[in-house]
Amino acid sequence: MPCTGGNRHLKTVTVGLLGCGTVGEGLLNLLAEERDEIAARAGVEIRVTKALVRRKDAPRKAPTKGIEFTTRLERVIDDPQIDVVVELIGGTDVALKGVEGALRRGKHVVTANKAIISQYGDRLLKLAAQHRCGLAYEGAVAASIPILQSLDHGLAGEKFDLVAGILNGTTNVILTRMGSEGAEFADALAYAQEAGFAEADPTLDISGQDTAHKLVILVHKAFGVRVPLRALPVQGIDDVTPEDIEHARQFGYGFKLLGIARVTDLGLDVRVHPMLLPIAHPLASVSEEFNAIYLHGRGIGPMIFYGRGAGSRPTARAVLGDLVKVASDDGALVPRLSMRAETAIKLAPAGRTTLMYYFRVTFTDQPHVLATVTNILDECRVEVHRIHAMGRQQGTIVMLTHPAVERNMQRAISRMNRLRYMTEPAKLFPMLEY
Ligand SMILES: NC(=O)c1ccc[n+]([C@@H]2O[C@H](COP(=O)([O-])OP(=O)(O)OC[C@H]3O[C@@H](n4cnc5c(N)ncnc54)[C@H](OP(=O)(O)O)[C@@H]3O)[C@@H](O)[C@H]2O)c1
Repeated sequence: MPCTGGNRHLKTVTVGLLGCGTVGEGLLNLLAEERDEIAARAGVEIRVTKALVRRKDAPRKAPTKGIEFTTRLERVIDDPQIDVVVELIGGTDVALKGVEGALRRGKHVVTANKAIISQYGDRLLKLAAQHRCGLAYEGAVAASIPILQSLDHGLAGEKFDLVAGILNGTTNVILTRMGSEGAEFADALAYAQEAGFAEADPTLDISGQDTAHKLVILVHKAFGVRVPLRALPVQGIDDVTPEDIEHARQFGYGFKLLGIARVTDLGLDVRVHPMLLPIAHPLASVSEEFNAIYLHGRGIGPMIFYGRGAGSRPTARAVLGDLVKVASDDGALVPRLSMRAETAIKLAPAGRTTLMYYFRVTFTDQPHVLATVTNILDECRVEVHRIHAMGRQQGTIVMLTHPAVERNMQRAISRMNRLRYMTEPAKLFPMLEY
């Protein structure tokens, strides 16, 4: 990067943007507002000269003077003056082409794109290392929370037993609403959409896939293991009812969509579920659109990161952090591929680890249902920890189990679902022990 400008100590770094929507505009606003601060603290001047967009002449909610808007990717990545490409398009199509193209041309890349990093991360990291380029993606996980940098630097040597995160603001708003007002899922979703916390198409959020993308990235940083997305058990929140949240509360538990990775005797167990967690657990009080990541390290014990996990400025803050880092030290973000290789552990085999479970069955009036259910559990080697049974005509049984092997629990549930007097499929959610 050339040393230019009036101040002989100020390094000018030229940036090409791919995408100038919610996060791109946030970045341009922060760059304009914090220009002097960044120059004073980091000794760099960051200048955006080109931006790839779909609609060249659309109005932008940010200062754009001096930026050439284009609809041709090559205009940005072929420009020899551009040192860093910041990808903020999203998806895996043009974004991936742009990131790979930029790295191949020897440009550093900063992105907030969890889809490309969770699916093509290894390939991109290799490409970056090969071309001695930085590749940073702090904005892809929990936006403003600097969790990836912390795992890379301050916590680099720590061995973790557990990483658990509330990584999706939309679903946290919905579950908060269902818990505080007894709202049904569909009404809570409508509220989240009206309040601007949910996309018009919230499928990725609701299904847990967005959390899965972020968890894959977190697990790679924390444990050195790249989990294939398709190998991850992922349960969405559309199955959760206000009754389940209320039952959980009566047992002394909160209810959150969590992405977790825990070290077990069988290996690393990685999964996404709506989960019960003790009301005193630090993650239980994280509400509305906030994100949080709870880590338990062998050396440090518990630690929690909390903040805004989405939005124009919180995400742009993370992108700007990466950008300032690569601008002030162009070797800082070049991937070291052997990172954490020594701590990498194998993945636990599917269905074999143990978890505590909450489940609820509903049935029409029948004698001996409780005995039948406990008998099935007994035969499937699932031990009951606590029971709550109620109702006469339309009965409900809610149980918490002791740690049970996942596939045994699932076998018990499918046997219960086959009983002719069950009125709907049983609800089954795992629990997070500390
Ligand atoms: N928004 C958040 O809160 C948030 C949080 C964390 C991470 N992220 C990530 O940040 C990235 C950007 O998100 P965003 O919310 O800023 O998206 P956005 O508002 O939809 O902006 C996307 C930008 O990309 C441009 N674009 C889209 N398709 C294109 C194509 N085929 N060719 C050229 N340009 C194209 C759009 O151009 P036009 O403006 O002309 O339409 C727009 O400027 C995504 O990876 C997202 O997952 C976002």
